[in-house]
Amino acid sequence: MIYSKMKAIYRLIILFLLVITWSNSFAQKTVVIAIETKDNVLVLQTDNTSKLRINYFGTKLENPSDYSQITGHSEREDDQEGISNEIYTSSGTTNLFEPALTIIHPDGNASTELQYASHKVEKIDHNVTLTTVVLTDPVYPLEVKLFFKTYATENVMEQWTVINNRAKNPIVMEKYASANLYFEANSYYLTHYHGSWASEMKPEETQLTAGIKSIDSKLGARANLFEPPSFMVSLNETAKENTGKVLLGQLAWTGNFKIDFELDPLHNLRLIAGINPYASSYEVAAGKSFETPVLITTFSNEGTGLASRNLHSWARKYRILDGEGSRLTLLNNWEATYFNFNEEKLTTLFGDAKKLGVDMFLLDDGWFANKYPRNDDHAGLGDWQENKKKLPNGIGYLVKEATKAGVKFGIWIEPEMVNPKSELYENHPDWVIKEEKRPEHYFRNQLVLDLSNPEVQDFVFGVLDNLFTKNPELAFIKWDCNAVIYNAHSKYLEKTGQRQTQLYVDYVKGLYAVLDRIRTKYPKVPMMLCSGGGGRVDYGALKYFTEYWPSDNTDPIERVFIQWENSYFFPTIAQCNHVTDWSKASMKFRTDVAMMGKLGFDIVVNELSPADLTAAQTALATYDRNKETIWHGDMYRLADPYQHPIASLMFVDRSKKSAIQFNYLISNRYAADYTKRIRMSGLDPHKKYQLKEVNLGHNSKTPIDANATYSGDFLMQVGINPRVTRSRNSVVIEISEVN
Ligand code: DGJ
Repeated sequence: MIYSKMKAIYRLIILFLLVITWSNSFAQKTVVIAIETKDNVLVLQTDNTSKLRINYFGTKLENPSDYSQITGHSEREDDQEGISNEIYTSSGTTNLFEPALTIIHPDGNASTELQYASHKVEKIDHNVTLTTVVLTDPVYPLEVKLFFKTYATENVMEQWTVINNRAKNPIVMEKYASANLYFEANSYYLTHYHGSWASEMKPEETQLTAGIKSIDSKLGARANLFEPPSFMVSLNETAKENTGKVLLGQLAWTGNFKIDFELDPLHNLRLIAGINPYASSYEVAAGKSFETPVLITTFSNEGTGLASRNLHSWARKYRILDGEGSRLTLLNNWEATYFNFNEEKLTTLFGDAKKLGVDMFLLDDGWFANKYPRNDDHAGLGDWQENKKKLPNGIGYLVKEATKAGVKFGIWIEPEMVNPKSELYENHPDWVIKEEKRPEHYFRNQLVLDLSNPEVQDFVFGVLDNLFTKNPELAFIKWDCNAVIYNAHSKYLEKTGQRQTQLYVDYVKGLYAVLDRIRTKYPKVPMMLCSGGGGRVDYGALKYFTEYWPSDNTDPIERVFIQWENSYFFPTIAQCNHVTDWSKASMKFRTDVAMMGKLGFDIVVNELSPADLTAAQTALATYDRNKETIWHGDMYRLADPYQHPIASLMFVDRSKKSAIQFNYLISNRYAADYTKRIRMSGLDPHKKYQLKEVNLGHNSKTPIDANATYSGDFLMQVGINPRVTRSRNSVVIEISEVN
């Protein structure tokens, strides 16, 4: 009896000692890393095999010490626990899910395991923090560094990865994602985009179900033509403007991308984003490393409105070139003349630009090439000398004439491309991406130059550098890119004994190398990112560009939708909107639509009726008064054109003293008139405001009472009816504080 009691006590003591030892060793081993922004947190925690897992992503906790209490996502202790929520999922061992990383080691082994090695947190300034996590493979000399750069106020996180090959021989990466995230909710809704030329940014919202949904591009250059790398993930319900948890994201990469959304057996969402592994295995030499592009995300607990305002602030401050600066209004000649112009015609257009009241004239395609003149899109690309017949006195003369007329001068280039009918192609067939053994295949009658080749990079840099060296007063560049990559084969990679599968990646790296050189030498000159419309709009490129061209489709009704969707991801200061003759809509409607961004024109000014000319000039004057608010203020989407017969949105300046509201009728149906009040947003509830309808035609009366005074509270809780009807199909209202 005594013996059995003693035995029981003895067992208890042993158990107690075991628990103490185990919990001590667990406490020593467990590392908790909380990556915070103002409102959100990503919590990483090591498990007892030193794997680093995502244990929580969402609203920040008040007390940081609470993070260590977060347990795993499931209490089930089965084989899958701790695999699907790894911070950077490797492959070839126990992982059963979509990997972020697949490596072939020098001995041909395809297995990689990653364990936590160390981490550090650096405060870059009051707003920006960089957390670096080092993971290593216990068997192979491989080091993976994960970077998390957070922008506290904007709730934005940038994530990227550096893969270091510490082996004595090369490794080959089959998949090398930028980031891996993990979300826990009851349901998940993905909004992604598709389209083609003139029909960019068509949204599609779909509930994610078990399995994987991927968005990707395999187009090489003009990579967003069918699908851009931008997306939204909404938790528990479809995405809403002012409520709900939503993540906006984009891979900042100007080439092939792949973003996987995988629901795991725990019904949690795995997100893996990076360069598309399609035909892109990549060798990393011994002792060398590879840096992936950046995944940019912002998470909002108050819907897409707040998420996009945060993304806009971040982009203006930290990403887009001169994002907090100003922009030039312009007259472009593309739709006014196409290829059919000469010196005389152009100099007349300078006068027209001045008469209209814009800052600059932009000369588009068709000004170059002599042996194979660029008179249509079949010839001349690559031969960047002024066409002597059209421009006998060269660009220098045009710049001078424009200056005399009182406008700046900008110019179009497409330096990454070549027509087979060109001297460049004749002299450097090796510089062209093509399969020598197969027939050439063209996209818009052209081929893509091989930017993996440093000589080609020098050439492309030279196109721009020569223009600036000869014409230092050039004020603006429109950089176009009209073709996708067919027959992805590089003579340069072949000659230098490198893998052909590196071409898609090295193309983009080559492009960035050129753009880096351009920005080192010409840090400020404004450049428009254009790609046969909006075939290339991403934050990888926008680091070098001041603005982008969303679409060649300038029909204002279509444009409302394209601009609307882009507004989720990009600030309006970067969005070029041109007034053209694509539709029969009134000049007022066209200019009102183009004003919700960077206003430009692409019309024949001297053929405008006096009323239309006045309408365009009035719009420019209104734009001038409000551009600071449109460019740098906060944007609020008020009525979604996908749900209403109108689109309504407003911009509010940071001091909340002034704002401007745009309302557009987008339905042509009988009695589509909008009969409801629209509640404004972003105003100060305690301030008093007056409303003034602007851009009114000469004799038009407005039902908006300019003498009435409203509180911000009233305008936001009750709102006013802008009286959008078929005869008033766009209504622009200036809102000003009354003292
Ligand atoms: C495509 C662009 O989107 C247009 O604006 C125009 O610049 C043409 N290329 C010129 O070829």
